Amino acid sequence: PAAKKLKIKECVNNRDTRVKVSGWVHRMRPQKNMIFITLRDGSGLLQCILTDKDNLTKTYDALTLTLETTITLYGEIKKVPEGSHAPDGHELHVDYYEVIGRAPGGDEAISNIVAPDADPTTKYNNRHLTIRGDIASATLKVRAAVVKAFRKSYDDLGLLEVTPPCMVQTQVEGGSTLFEFDYYGEKAYLTQSSQLYLETCLPSLGDVFCIQESFRAEKSLTRRHLSEYTHIEAELAFITFDDLLCHLEEMICRTIDTVWTDPQIRKFIQDLNEEANKEEKRRFEKGEVTEIKHYEFNPPQRPFKRMTYVDAIQWLNEHNIPNEDGEPHKFGDDIAEAAERRMTDIINLPIFLTKFPVEIKAFYMKKDLQDPRVTESVDCLMPGVGEIVGGSMRMDNLEELLAAYKREGIPADPYYWFTDQRKYGTTPHGGYGIGLERLLAWMCGRWTVKDCSLYPRWMGRCTP
Ligand code: 4AD
Ligand code: MG
Repeated sequence: PAAKKLKIKECVNNRDTRVKVSGWVHRMRPQKNMIFITLRDGSGLLQCILTDKDNLTKTYDALTLTLETTITLYGEIKKVPEGSHAPDGHELHVDYYEVIGRAPGGDEAISNIVAPDADPTTKYNNRHLTIRGDIASATLKVRAAVVKAFRKSYDDLGLLEVTPPCMVQTQVEGGSTLFEFDYYGEKAYLTQSSQLYLETCLPSLGDVFCIQESFRAEKSLTRRHLSEYTHIEAELAFITFDDLLCHLEEMICRTIDTVWTDPQIRKFIQDLNEEANKEEKRRFEKGEVTEIKHYEFNPPQRPFKRMTYVDAIQWLNEHNIPNEDGEPHKFGDDIAEAAERRMTDIINLPIFLTKFPVEIKAFYMKKDLQDPRVTESVDCLMPGVGEIVGGSMRMDNLEELLAAYKREGIPADPYYWFTDQRKYGTTPHGGYGIGLERLLAWMCGRWTVKDCSLYPRWMGRCTP
């Protein structure tokens, strides 16, 4: 009889129909007179039953099927009784099947390569197989939903998307993390941030954003640093620092609301956080962490807590959290990753940390009019990760910018096009960059940003 060719996610609207579904064997449970197969096709999971009735478990070689074998199944989609655990509440009663491509069993079986307790090197060497698993694929689906929702929020708020270059000849965030390469005999870099280019778009296109890879030659191995990451950046003209904070809060909350109202994505986020609690328990048992942190994601409440750098220094000292030299924090100290994470975890709320000292921030940041020791800058910190966003108002005065190049030892020539923005009709403006993998680590309760990237790159890994 005829069968309708469907993706798994379409089955829900095709109950009591004979269908043809192709996919990978995700799980398999042979029982006495039947075999349960969970089929995966990327669009979803489908519970399939092969029974003795149609001689299916005996014919061909159903019992010798291995995980990850590709197969086409024919049969009728039936609703399962309430309380049954089949994905989407239905299952496929298979009456015929064809094997397309077999996968190895034994030592080479996928379950032996990407076991949950596999060591990290094996896991990342086999990222192409790891991404087939429930945790990785759920994280990547949340990632796609978040990117889509950001684009929607920017569109709603009237920002235009642009695509700045990745190959550049200027730095944005300091020379020490630049990836340099040979560009037809000239020195060039992989972009650290598209910010400077976004600034040049304001007079032409108005407020703009981009979702683009940024590259940092980070020489430290941490849970939140990648060499290549996806950077969501925006730039807005004729705004105040306060406008910038309000816009950022609006963008984050609006985007998360969009993601959270999709029941499927919400379920992925909840499942991932539940999984995070199991992982945390395993880390605690192995002595990798000294206290158990509870993972649960809820959309953040507005307004975010605002805290100046000066207040944060005081807060850290009151809580006996030392600086990198093991001493109390003093004005001008960088707030290191460990201290920042600790503070964010204790406060356990999104925080806008503002007004960092001039010396520890980038050359382009505008100084605070009331206190010229500090900049109109903001980091947004989230529990479990710490900094996920960095932003600021930009120096819009020509002379001041030229002086800043000098102060930082940056040669002004290669920046002529950036400098020109202050010459040909300057404007107060500001913007920010969101690290997509860090935002996801926070939402999905992931231990490291590496697991929020399709193929993560960090010092020592550029493959697969
Ligand atoms: O704080 P950063 O360095 O700020 C900038 O690049 C600005 N030019 C952005 C702007 O204003 N348009 O980076 C912004 C964010 C960080 O808050 C962090 O989330 C992420 O980018 N980030 C990284 N994520 C993963 N791995 C790395 N090595 C990262 N470095 C920064
Ligand atoms: Mg930063």
